[in-house]
Amino acid sequence: MASITIRNLDDEVKELLRRLAAENDRSMEEQARVMIRAAVDGQIGPVGRIDQIEKTLRDLTSSHNLAVPIAAAPGKIVPRGSLSGKRILLIIGGGIAAYKALDLIRRLRERGAAVRVVMTSAAQEFVTTLSVGALSADHVFTELFDRNDEHDVGHIRLSREADLLVVAPATADLMARLANGHANDLASTVLIATDKPVLMAPAMNPKMWAHPATRRNRATLGKDGIAFIGPAKGEMAESHEAGEGRMAEPLEIVAAIEALLDVSPKPLSGRRIIVTSGPTHEPIDPVRYIANRSSGKQGHAIAAALARLGADVRLVSGPVTIADPAGVKTIHVERAQEMRDAVEQLLPADAAVFVAAVADWRSENSAGEKIKKVVGEGPPVLRMVENPDILAGVGHHSQRPGLVIGFAAETQDLLRNADAKLRKKGADFIVANDVSHESGIGPSGVMGGDRNRVRIVSKAGVEEWPEMSKDEVAARLAALIAERLKTIVV
Ligand SMILES: Cc1cc2nc3c(=O)[nH]c(=O)nc-3n(C[C@H](O)[C@H](O)[C@H](O)COP(=O)(O)O)c2cc1C
Repeated sequence: MASITIRNLDDEVKELLRRLAAENDRSMEEQARVMIRAAVDGQIGPVGRIDQIEKTLRDLTSSHNLAVPIAAAPGKIVPRGSLSGKRILLIIGGGIAAYKALDLIRRLRERGAAVRVVMTSAAQEFVTTLSVGALSADHVFTELFDRNDEHDVGHIRLSREADLLVVAPATADLMARLANGHANDLASTVLIATDKPVLMAPAMNPKMWAHPATRRNRATLGKDGIAFIGPAKGEMAESHEAGEGRMAEPLEIVAAIEALLDVSPKPLSGRRIIVTSGPTHEPIDPVRYIANRSSGKQGHAIAAALARLGADVRLVSGPVTIADPAGVKTIHVERAQEMRDAVEQLLPADAAVFVAAVADWRSENSAGEKIKKVVGEGPPVLRMVENPDILAGVGHHSQRPGLVIGFAAETQDLLRNADAKLRKKGADFIVANDVSHESGIGPSGVMGGDRNRVRIVSKAGVEEWPEMSKDEVAARLAALIAERLKTIVV
């Protein structure tokens, strides 16, 4: 463990430290740690000589004069829990953005993560091991050939004892080393020895980022399964140049870590949501049926997006050729009446989203045997009757879910039809999509295609969403549902 020797402080500093430690009922070592933490946190506070103490402690550490462990500093870090129990190995590369790694450590520890840090030798030109160690409350690893570290932990254990390795900032050189399989310092050796996921947050001058060599390395690392966050476009700290190369902000990196470790907040956990999807098939006889062009892509994507936000999703799907979404309980039906029965059996629920293109009519006289073509008799006459209106049925049901959303696929008068549907069917929202050829969406159109442009019609008005993929519509709608359900108490 990295450490500092209090007895080597000069007398004046030592006396000040002793007094402060006594005032705060702490040991001198603990007082030193708290003050270093406060200094690197940027909160100088009411303590007069903190700069001098910090400088002295910094000098001592850099001269390797170590004896007192820099262990968990008491005080300000309050675990907020989203990363509770997770172990992150943070590798800090040698770029200007290394200063942001200090904030990243704090943000991770605030969320309950244990953070161990490896610093490249270039990184130590930008931030000190003292600051990093004080914030991470752990020893900082810097050398591959350090006899003590290798004996205590060892580079292999270091690389395996984490749940995730994060490289921030990832320099062009570090990316190049890993892309080419180098293991010539502790950082690259740990990266190549690990069996855990790796997230890189590159940061460099825009010209370096745009260089074909860096582009190649980025592509290779992506193929090798390395996840990336950023870089973003913006002003570069060192050069007053602007462009793509700024490291992602610490909170963006935290969000990427939460997503990779699948600990991101699940706003819909504990919520039960019914989704219908696909067409219905209304039989004419055992081999023929009336159907429509719905593929189920939008409804299935919505079911999957709701499940990702933690909802207990029950999907009632008409006949489709796509796979059941992961993490969703799917009930397969054929006809509108079966879909209605399945939905009603699933009540009560917190929300219901009716995406299925349910046939409005069915043949009342569908035949039990295949209808034969008889010369001279002409075509059979189908007597059409209305199918149950599943949306209206649930919208006015005694067990109506708190949130009811319908879809309106229209080829004309989109908004007027959607508005009428909203009122008649007792829905909170109608998601209106223009399924006409004039919608201008892709060669395959909305029905069957992968893209959609929807309007959200509610009593509050109409919200237009731009054209996007059906997955994006699903994610956005799931977020809207999560937001609305926050205000609905069941
Ligand atoms: C002032 C200064 C700033 C630098 N900033 C960056 C940077 O932001 N990104 C980068 O890839 N390299 C940067 N470099 C170059 C790296 O420090 C250099 O390539 C080093 O070998 C990287 O070592 P590492 O990958 O082991 O950390 C910078 C160098 C200097 C002198």
